[in-house]
Amino acid sequence: MHTLYFDLRDTKGQQKTIEDNISAAARLLRDGALVAIPTETVYGLGANGLDEAAVRRIFEAKGRPQDNPLILHLTGPQWLPRYCRDIPPMAYVLARKFWPGPLTIILKRGELVPDVTTAGLDTVAVRCPNHPVTLAILREAGVPVAAPSANLSGRPSCTSAQDVLEDMDGRIEGVVDGGPCVVGVESTILDMTCEPPRLLRPGGLPVEELERLIGPIAVDRAVTGTMPEGERPRAPGMKYRHYAPKAPVTVVTGAPAKSAQEIKRRVGPTSGVICFDEYARMFPDQVVHPIGPVDDKLIQAQRVFEALRAFDATKVTEIYTQCPDGQGLGLAVGNRLKKAAGFREVEADSEKIVLGLTGGTGAGKSSALAVLRELGAVVLDCDKVYHKMLAGDEEMQKAISKAFPGVFRPDGTLNRQKLGQEVFMKKEQLEKLNAIVYHFLVPEIQRRLDEAGDSICAIDAINLLESGLDIVCDRTIAITSPTELRVRRIMARDKITEQYARMRITAQKPDEYYRSKCSCELNNDADTAEEFQRIARRFFSRMIRAVREEKQNKKI
Ligand code: TXA
Ligand code: MG
Repeated sequence: MHTLYFDLRDTKGQQKTIEDNISAAARLLRDGALVAIPTETVYGLGANGLDEAAVRRIFEAKGRPQDNPLILHLTGPQWLPRYCRDIPPMAYVLARKFWPGPLTIILKRGELVPDVTTAGLDTVAVRCPNHPVTLAILREAGVPVAAPSANLSGRPSCTSAQDVLEDMDGRIEGVVDGGPCVVGVESTILDMTCEPPRLLRPGGLPVEELERLIGPIAVDRAVTGTMPEGERPRAPGMKYRHYAPKAPVTVVTGAPAKSAQEIKRRVGPTSGVICFDEYARMFPDQVVHPIGPVDDKLIQAQRVFEALRAFDATKVTEIYTQCPDGQGLGLAVGNRLKKAAGFREVEADSEKIVLGLTGGTGAGKSSALAVLRELGAVVLDCDKVYHKMLAGDEEMQKAISKAFPGVFRPDGTLNRQKLGQEVFMKKEQLEKLNAIVYHFLVPEIQRRLDEAGDSICAIDAINLLESGLDIVCDRTIAITSPTELRVRRIMARDKITEQYARMRITAQKPDEYYRSKCSCELNNDADTAEEFQRIARRFFSRMIRAVREEKQNKKI
């Protein structure tokens, strides 16, 4: 079969061509053909929902189990009485508020709807998609269009016409390209035939918005986990393993910094990673598909299926993924990831507290760390670890000597002066060296953090932010101090002249840099060391208590 392609990505173009394409697609549907259609959620594989033979072909083309009913796509609430009965007034309230949009409502089935469409159930799923092209097609076809997601059964849903062709080329009569799907996850399914209404599938419309309008909603067990043996989910489709790439998926839940760390601990050279944008750089040796910033669930929803699909073109043998929290669209994104994983979940350890300290010389980092030690923290001094690795880590030595030939003496020891000269005042060379150092140092610090178990850890690093170590920290703390005080402290501590002390301070980044990039600041303008320690003790005690409380709250 040849699959026709209708390009309707740009609806501002030639009016005539657009109308012709819409008419052609509508005619195909009316004549019993299968046509993939764009919606705001995912692409649908459409057929005339009243035509038994056509609907049967949907199941064949997708390889979909016969007991999994389809959603009827309508042009609006005015079509409800044709295909449903005993419609509660609340259904109209929801439809008027959220249609066209990513909400599917389950209602009692009307007589016109054939058994195949609802897989024999006496209820029917209905929704009005929010896509101008598909709405025009529905209006012109004049029939409700039954449309499951346009993927082969079991594969991740399609969020572009290209995805559809990948799965369906040659199996269906046509594909209408309406551009990429703006929501990216399927509609929210709400069963309105019971009291209270029940969420059968979290989706593009957050439950919170529904509850705001109609009060509390029950959540079906299939939403949060696999069903116990013998129990039937109310949305038959929720029982199947879904959205799954070829490689097995593990979802790592917990605070983003922790789940990233947990994944880092588990990955090998053939692992793939789905993570938030902020953590992508932690996995330079893996195939990584970032799904958007931690705080942008809209983007995560748009990208989640694309990420799951993309691994099938690689040699990845296992996939680890971070997971958003369950608020707003996070519930739907997390549900798709967990379904792809067959609900294989790992909870990232959440007891440990990691504080990252940074700032210029003479500000009081050492005193602050002494206080943290007193409070029971394990302190990881990055500079010390770095020097140890320079002397003993063969892989790092090899990488450095390849980039800077001759800096290691024939006996294997480092000629520090020579390395210093190679990078002194040469920005590019210094960046090259730093990239190598971070590549080896960051995993080593992470290994030491792991070793420290459920304790408080303090990372001491002047390059905390540049190395990327900041992302494993629960808090990053800028230790700052007025310049004049720093000058005096450095002179006393290192027995150097004032001029030299000032030079060292100007060679470093200003306090403002650390202040703007860290999550908190501890300013040391105390006159004596004792006073600063008192301030620091109070500062860190409070901070540790606050982080602990946050973690406890996350657990509940
Ligand atoms: O966003 C969407 O809803 C997309 C686009 C194309 O509109 N469609 C979609 O369809 O996701 P599908 O077939 O992939 O998922 C429909 C889900 C299945 O889990 C199915 O079991 C459930 O809806 N469903 C359909 N009719 C039902 C009914 N009468 N009672 C309970 N669940 C039903
Ligand atoms: Mg589907």
